[in-house]
Amino acid sequence: MYGKRTDMTVHSELPYNAEPPRGALAGTTLTPVDAFYCRNHGPVPEADGSDWRLRVGGLVTTPLTLSPAELAARFEVCSETATLQCAGNRRAGLVAVRDIPGEAPWGPTATATAVWTGVRLADVLAAVGVVEGASDVEFVGTDVSDAADPPQEFGGSVPLRKARMPEVLLAWAMNGEPLTPVHGAPLRVVVPGYIGARSVKWVDRIEVRDRPSANFFQASTYRLLPPDAPVTGTPGEGVELGLVAVNADFLLPDDGSSHPAGPVTVAGYAFAGGDRTVVRVDVSADGGATWSQADLGEQASTWAWRHWSATVELPRGETEVLARAWDSSAALQPERPEHVWNPKGYVNNSWARLRLHGA
Ligand code: MTE
Repeated sequence: MYGKRTDMTVHSELPYNAEPPRGALAGTTLTPVDAFYCRNHGPVPEADGSDWRLRVGGLVTTPLTLSPAELAARFEVCSETATLQCAGNRRAGLVAVRDIPGEAPWGPTATATAVWTGVRLADVLAAVGVVEGASDVEFVGTDVSDAADPPQEFGGSVPLRKARMPEVLLAWAMNGEPLTPVHGAPLRVVVPGYIGARSVKWVDRIEVRDRPSANFFQASTYRLLPPDAPVTGTPGEGVELGLVAVNADFLLPDDGSSHPAGPVTVAGYAFAGGDRTVVRVDVSADGGATWSQADLGEQASTWAWRHWSATVELPRGETEVLARAWDSSAALQPERPEHVWNPKGYVNNSWARLRLHGA
């Protein structure tokens, strides 16, 4: 479906939600589009790019309506390598601790990296003239989700100071090819370093505001609740998610696979949002008694994950190999999913665990 690999794990067909097998993300910083996860809250809109218009308004002096072609003609076209990571990435690890009704058990591949091409949101904001008192920039897509009651277009906002950063793009291409419909064609926002939910697809409205978005997908969900809190959906409950916390997982070999006892190479990804980067990944094959440092792959940009690999000594029998990443603020992933469990199942950034059998 939607040009994706046939071996995607499809969490739902409508809306289409799918992630690739771990191995599909290994060995390459840029994720092929056919292996890039898809996270949707409503049907993919049927968009004919020719009559698409982006309206930019709110707390601005000169509201603008622009076609993608006008965007490209009027503003400098640029590219940025950035990782998207869904706040629900690795939720399955939390579900294993305690059930999370109504939320799909995403594995560790609701994250991927692409080169995005478009124009800087900052340039568009400069053109419309942001007025005093503005603090947030809201993006709204054309897809309507019945997860909200009443159904609502998907949207969300980021602080104005982030919106003005040069890495935030209005993008029409991914890895050098036009965006495919399922990834937001003809136009999407890319907010590097923030949860994937803020990278609004099919964006046709941008509103400069004096407060965060009241959209369901910002005010009522994608929020971190205390473990004992009921999920009521009341706007403003819990903590709004934004910057992505340091996280990592294994990509190779397969979880549960058998190997001759002795040296085995393991590999994975690590990512830190905000403007932090991954500076170290530790690996242990003895339950954390001793750790060795993985080799880190390229840092393609401040906004991209790093792949890593390490060789561990696999004993005979069952072993749980551990991996944990540190970011440039010296933050370390928490040890266990029990420590981060929350009622909506977001931000499972506990240590990565891979079960291997030594034969
Ligand atoms: N934008 C719209 N319009 N509708 C959506 O459902 N899902 C968001 C975001 N943008 C979404 C959206 C979420 S939760 C994520 S993680 C990313 O898109 C996923 O982007 P992708 O499907 O291109 O991988």
